[in-house]
Amino acid sequence: TPYFSDKQAFLRDVFSRYPDTERGRRSVLMPLLREVQDTFGFVSEAHMEEIAAVAGTTATEVRSVMSFYSTYHTVPTGKYHLQVCSTLMCALKGSDELWDHLVETLDVQPGEVSPDGLFSVQKVECLGSCGTAPVVQVNDDGYYENVGPTRCRHLLDAMRAGTPPAFDNPVPVTVRDGQQLDA
Ligand code: FES
Repeated sequence: TPYFSDKQAFLRDVFSRYPDTERGRRSVLMPLLREVQDTFGFVSEAHMEEIAAVAGTTATEVRSVMSFYSTYHTVPTGKYHLQVCSTLMCALKGSDELWDHLVETLDVQPGEVSPDGLFSVQKVECLGSCGTAPVVQVNDDGYYENVGPTRCRHLLDAMRAGTPPAFDNPVPVTVRDGQQLDA
């Protein structure tokens, strides 16, 4: 059954928040994508099509919104989706080496999940925390800062043990859902 068929109240609430204009319909996609991703961890082709139908737009449009915001995934992710900032300040502080280390030790490439199911990796643009480079975001939840080789090792060990430390910074909700860029 379609995911949203028994979620009429949720849909009514979402649609009541945006005007029935082209821009409004585009904005509606964000909470719908968020809902599916929070439930399944990623947004499949079938769900893109359902969201398009619900929002009165095309799957192509849904895909283009998804690709604009790196926060949405089209493939399954690990329990810990590690997003390594690869913009200049982080690169100067060793994010390339950090990336190589992650890919090698976790045995995972972008778009894959590590063999133990725990990790996936992605390079992302500046996370807005350049003073504490290198920065790694985990899922849509928070940032670890100053992630040098030693801290990286500790973080991975803690995640494998299921006890990741508290984030240095949570991800602001406005950034998480792209509302800031869209406002
Ligand atoms: Fe990495 Fe800005 S360059 S957080």
